[in-house]
Amino acid sequence: MPVIEGKEIRASVPAKVILFGEHFVVYGKRALAAAINRRLAVQVSSRGKRGYHIKIEDIPTFGLELDLEAGNDEKRKVRPYKDYGTAVKALAYVRSSIEYLEERYGIGNEGVEIEIKSEIPLSAGLGSSAATCVATIAALKEYFGVKGDVEGIRSDAHNVEKIVQGAASPIDTAISTYGGYVLVERNEVKRLRLDELNLIVGCVGSIPLSMDSTKASELGLKTKTIVEGVKNRRAIFTSIFDSVFDAADELTAQAIKAIEENDLVNVGALMNINHGLLDAIGVVPRRLSELVKMAQDLGALGAKVTGAGGLDEMGGVGSVLVLPGESGDRIKAAMAIADALVMDVKTGGEGLRIETDF
Ligand code: MEV
Repeated sequence: MPVIEGKEIRASVPAKVILFGEHFVVYGKRALAAAINRRLAVQVSSRGKRGYHIKIEDIPTFGLELDLEAGNDEKRKVRPYKDYGTAVKALAYVRSSIEYLEERYGIGNEGVEIEIKSEIPLSAGLGSSAATCVATIAALKEYFGVKGDVEGIRSDAHNVEKIVQGAASPIDTAISTYGGYVLVERNEVKRLRLDELNLIVGCVGSIPLSMDSTKASELGLKTKTIVEGVKNRRAIFTSIFDSVFDAADELTAQAIKAIEENDLVNVGALMNINHGLLDAIGVVPRRLSELVKMAQDLGALGAKVTGAGGLDEMGGVGSVLVLPGESGDRIKAAMAIADALVMDVKTGGEGLRIETDF
């Protein structure tokens, strides 16, 4: 396929929060997600030689750690938390996106430089995997002149997520593509028009030094592990899990109504119930549980785990979502003291944006 010399394409997409129904959506139940005002951008340009060169920059990390080993100056170094292993796994999504496009559309006889810049913390339940797939696929399709629409980009990205993760609902790739709000019901994606919500996200991202690096790097595929865990527990307690799934389905329906009516008290109450259901299916690690309880105690209207949740044996890495009411400042301060990365977010932002002149 012909590529114009010097051509540069940038595709950017939003992060997402799942407001209601994560995990249950994998079983065909309803879930509501929203784009938030944090973005990931993939820039594609030509390279002097054949092949792909991929660079990931600017991923928010969670600070630095100091490793003081007695009597050994060489080892007395400040180094970042082990987010590098996670970044390596994030590349699995880029690589699979490229391989998928090569196979499906025959792209790739050129040298391509791919640069990824992200404001979305990795493995935090904020849609970094889907964002990576959607933006990479959109930028490469545009660069190589592959014909198609955003719907095609969304479905390509969803296919890649399924290849990498084994299983994925369409919710994350839909939000990265469309922005705004998305309801997924029996695997069908519907775009909804709802008012903006002001929320707080707290991410637990520090992986303890004691965790071996193989385990730390597996975090890049954390969603896959957690989704499999739910499947295994459901296989043992099928009827109980199915009742919980049905309750979650009804909960999402009532939550949409509450948002439409601007009834934030009920939105918050439903977030608290949703959190309890996620705990019941085993996806709430201790550190996220503590953040949720703390926010609730400090007067949040509602608080819950968002996205895939987490696992204690993977450092409890993941995120919580808080509808703060009047107590936002207190909640944010307490979360920061508890070592979370704290973000004020607004729901409903812009979806995929492709730029050729910048
Ligand atoms: C992950 O962001 C959301 C899950 O429901 C998985 C999925 O929907 O594919 C846990």
